[in-house]
Amino acid sequence: MRTVTEWNGGWRFAKTAQIPATLPEDWVQVTLPHTWNAVDGQDGGNDYWRGTAMYVRAFSRPALAAGERAWLEFPGAAMTATVTLNGQTLARHEGGYSTFRVDITDALAEDNLLCVAVDNGENDRVYPQKADFTFYGGLYRGVNLIIVPAVHFELGHHGGPGLRMTPEVDLERRTARVKVETWQVGEGLVRLELEGVHGAIFTAPDAAGRAEAVFSLEDVHLWDGVEDPYLYTVTAALLSGGEETDQISARFGCRTIRFDAQEGFFLNGRPYPLRGVSRHQDRAGVGNALTLDHHREDMAIIREIGANTVRLAHYQHAQAYYDLCDEQGLIVWAEIPYITQHMPAGRQNTLDQMTELVVQNYNHPSIVCWGLSNEITASGTATGDLMENHRLLNDLCHRLDPTRPTTMAHVFMLETDSPLIQIADIGSYNLYFGWYLGELEENDRFFDAYHERFPRRVMGFSEYGADANPALQSSHPERGDYTEGYQCLYHEHILRLIDRRPWLWATHVWNLFDFAADGRDEGGKHGVNQKGLVTMDRQVKKDAFYLYKAAWNRTEPFVHLCGRRYVNRAEEVTEIKVYSNCAEVSLTVDGVPVGTLRGERVFTFRVPLTGEHTVTARAGDCTDTITVRRAAQPDPAYRLAQQGEVVNWFDREDFRPDCFSIRDTLGALMAHPGTAPIVKAMMDKARASRGDVAQAASGNRNLERMMAGMSLESLLKQAAGAIPPEAVRQLNAALQRVPK
Ligand code: GCU
Repeated sequence: MRTVTEWNGGWRFAKTAQIPATLPEDWVQVTLPHTWNAVDGQDGGNDYWRGTAMYVRAFSRPALAAGERAWLEFPGAAMTATVTLNGQTLARHEGGYSTFRVDITDALAEDNLLCVAVDNGENDRVYPQKADFTFYGGLYRGVNLIIVPAVHFELGHHGGPGLRMTPEVDLERRTARVKVETWQVGEGLVRLELEGVHGAIFTAPDAAGRAEAVFSLEDVHLWDGVEDPYLYTVTAALLSGGEETDQISARFGCRTIRFDAQEGFFLNGRPYPLRGVSRHQDRAGVGNALTLDHHREDMAIIREIGANTVRLAHYQHAQAYYDLCDEQGLIVWAEIPYITQHMPAGRQNTLDQMTELVVQNYNHPSIVCWGLSNEITASGTATGDLMENHRLLNDLCHRLDPTRPTTMAHVFMLETDSPLIQIADIGSYNLYFGWYLGELEENDRFFDAYHERFPRRVMGFSEYGADANPALQSSHPERGDYTEGYQCLYHEHILRLIDRRPWLWATHVWNLFDFAADGRDEGGKHGVNQKGLVTMDRQVKKDAFYLYKAAWNRTEPFVHLCGRRYVNRAEEVTEIKVYSNCAEVSLTVDGVPVGTLRGERVFTFRVPLTGEHTVTARAGDCTDTITVRRAAQPDPAYRLAQQGEVVNWFDREDFRPDCFSIRDTLGALMAHPGTAPIVKAMMDKARASRGDVAQAASGNRNLERMMAGMSLESLLKQAAGAIPPEAVRQLNAALQRVPK
C-alpha cells in the first residue's frame, strides 16, 4: 500500500541559484511550509526579494520493495521550481499555486542530495506578473514523499488525485447516477466502494489504464450548500496478484447548479443567491506559508459573517481550503492567475495552470465555476492574441469539465459590449465607483444599464470594496479617507444595491481580509491592501464586517456597536450606529435608556456628549458596550497625516469662484472653448507620462461618461504621480484665468 510522509523538516535554504554538490551546513535551516517573503512581502516599498532561491535536503535511500516507486509531491512551489536529485535535473514546474509530483525512483542513491530551485522573479511567461498582491516565493505548502507499489493509481497526471467522480442528479426522482473513473499504472483490477451506501463494484482498466464504473443512488442525500453539505466518499482499491496493492479515496457531493440571467444562481433547483466574500491566501507575519489552523480560522470567520460563497482569488488555493469549503457548504469561484496584463509568451502557462486547477479540483462540489482571468484588460486592450488565449482556455475547461461553466472578472473600464465578455459562459464585473473614482450610485447605474442592454447575460459582482484602517475615524466620513466610517457607508450602499438586483448570480466583497500588496503605501499602512472587513492578522473585525453579518448570518443573534475605536469625539451630539440581525435594538447611555428602534440591519441613534459615556446596545439577550468621550478638538490620531499630494497642492483656499478651476467637472471643462485646450494638453501629458487613467479614458465610452461627471481634481487623485504638484498648480492657475 502507498505511504505518504511529510518532508517538512531538515531543509537548508539560501537565496542562490547555485546547486550545491554537498549539503551546505552553513546555510540557514528552514521548516516547511516556508516563504522567504514573509516579512519583506508585507512591509511596503515594493521591494520584496524576488529571484531564485535554493532548498536542499539530504536523505538516505528510502526502503523500497521490489517494483515500488518513490515520488515527491510539491503542493505549492512559487512560482517556478526545478527539482534536482544527486545532480540530475528531474523536473521543472511553472506555476506557483498547483500541485506537481516527480518520480525520483531511478535517480536514488544510498545517500541523496535533493535540491529544489524555486523562483519568483520577473518574467514574461509565468503568471502572475502584474497584480495587486505580493507574489510570495517559496515551498509554502510543504513537500511529501509518496511511496507506491509497482501497480498504483496514477500520480503523474497533472498532479491529479487519480480518481474522479461525476454525479448526475435527478431532482424529481431524488436519484443520482455517479460515474467513477480511475487511472492506474500497471495491471490490476479496480474495486470501488461508495462508503456506507453501496457494495463493491469491480472493474478493469482499458489499455490506457483508465477504469470506469457507475453507482446508482436512490434517495440521494444532496450536497445542499451551507444548510446541508453532505459528502459521499468513494474508496478505490487496486488488486494485483491476489492482493490489494494501492488504495485511494476521495469525497464528492451530489448537487445541481444553474445560472439564470434574470433570476441568478440556483442550487438543487431553488434560487440560491450567492452572497459572499473573496479571500487571498496570506496572513500577517507568515506570508502565504499557511497552516491548517490558519485555513480553519479563515473558514470560521467566513461562517461567522454568514457568507454562502467565497471567491478564492486570484489563483489555485490549497486543497485543504477547497476541502473545508466542501465540508462547510461554501460555494466557490476558483480561478487561475491570468491577471491584469496579458503576456503573449504566457499562453501555454495559462493552459497549464488551468489544466492543473481543473484536474486537481474536479471532485469538489463547492466549486461551481472556473475563472479564466481577472481584469486582464486593465493594462491594455483586448488584442486578438488575448482573445485567442481566452477562447483556448474556455474550450479547455469545457473539455476537462463539461459540468461547470467558465467565468471572468472584468475590470470596470472594459466596455460592456466588448466581445471578450462573450467568450466565457458567465461573467462578473469588478467595480469601485465610490472608492477609486466616481460616486456610489454609479455602481447601480452601471449594472442597471448593463442588465437592460444584455438581459440574457449572466452577470455578477466579483469585486467591490473600500479601504479602511481601523485607527482612522471621522464623524463626516468621505470617499478616500480610509476611515471605518466610510467603509461602512460604502458597504451599506452596496448592500442595498445587491438587495434590489437578485439577478446578480454572485456578489463577492473585495476582500474579507486585508492582504499584502507590497507595492502599496496608503491609508497609513505600508504594503497592505486594507479593503478587508478583517485585518491581516485576523485580530480586528472592522465595523463593516458586522453589517454583512447582520445581513447574512441568520443563525446567531448579535448586536454590534460601531465606533468602538472612535472614542474621542469633538461633537456635542454624536451618531451611534448599531448593526444587528435582530429586529429591535435599544440603547442606553450611562445606564439611562435613550431609545428603541425597530428595523433591519442598521440602527442609528443620536446621542449628546457631555463627558465620558458608557453606551450599551441591546437586542434580545445580546448586548454590546463601548465608551465614547466628548473631546474639545478632533483627535489627530484618527486622521491620515498625509492625505496624498492632491490635498496639499494649494496653500491657500482662494479659488476665484467666478472662474474655472480643477474643481470643475471634466465634462464642464471640456465643453468650454477657453478651458478645453488647457485640459487636453494636460491629458496628453498624463498619457505620455503614465497613461493608466488618461489612457483608459481615451476611446472608452463607458469611462469617458463616468469621468465627465467627476471633478478634474478627483481624477488627478487617481493618477497621483502622473502630474507633479507644480504642474497641477500651473494647470489650476491657467483655468482660473478663464471666467465662467
Ligand atoms: C482589482 C483587482 C484586485 C485588487 C483590487 C483593489 O479589482 O482585481 O486584485 O486588489 O482591484 O484595487 O483593491
